Amino acid sequence: MTYDLSPIDKAKFVAAKRATDYVQSGMRVGLGTGSTAAWLVRCLGEMVRDEGLKIKGVPTSSRTAQLARDVGIEVVSLDEARWLDLTIDGADEYDGNLNLIKGGGGALLQEKIVATASDQMVVIADISKQVETLGAFPLPVEVIPFGWQTTKTLIEETLIGLDVLGRTTTLRMNGEAPYYTDEGNHIIDLHLNRIGNARQLSLVLNQIPGVVENGLFIDICDVVVIGYGDGRVEVRDVNKGSVEETRFDFVDNDNIFNEVAD
Ligand code: 5RP
Repeated sequence: MTYDLSPIDKAKFVAAKRATDYVQSGMRVGLGTGSTAAWLVRCLGEMVRDEGLKIKGVPTSSRTAQLARDVGIEVVSLDEARWLDLTIDGADEYDGNLNLIKGGGGALLQEKIVATASDQMVVIADISKQVETLGAFPLPVEVIPFGWQTTKTLIEETLIGLDVLGRTTTLRMNGEAPYYTDEGNHIIDLHLNRIGNARQLSLVLNQIPGVVENGLFIDICDVVVIGYGDGRVEVRDVNKGSVEETRFDFVDNDNIFNEVAD
């Protein structure tokens, strides 16, 4: 790995690197999707290769599955693993209770299934993902293609009665064509600006026919590992109520980060 990185990539990398402390040999590990999770997969691949780490990885998307195989991680399906010790994934937003918006990368459905089937979910993120109140990031909602325009209208009508600041919805596109998820569904992004009651919104959205799942992760995440561009890492554990800080030093000569004790 080369570490000639931008500050944002350094932040993602150190968060991912610190999160590998949660991984032990023999574990079944859910592997998230996105640029931060990709750092995690590369770090775990190095540990498999150089340290003899033995894990079974359950990827949350075809992209992550490909990367995990490329770096030498044993990949199994969720049905093979059945239940996971740990899932580590990125997020688009996290709040003070570690409730999340996910799905910016389009993988929210598998991500939510895998995280929910895990003893622990650790989110890795740079500090830009931290918010007071969820909702500035558009909330992704996965819908089946059949009748998606009707589903979109139903979502908009449902939003009228809810505590949100914006109600515009857009079909996610991939160039000129609608975006398709790994499950063959579409994503409708909800531009809500501020979500007053995320738990209620999540429950109500999932009642609408045609909606498969939404990107709100409520009471699923246990720990957030926050990386900074200068190598600092903060670990917040919502169950323990603890906050810990570590620091990685960027060493010029040997292209490696050194972890510095507190
Ligand atoms: C993919 C996700 C990602 O975890 C989220 O979009 C964060 O991605 P990144 O680490 O690239 O910022 O939910 O569906």
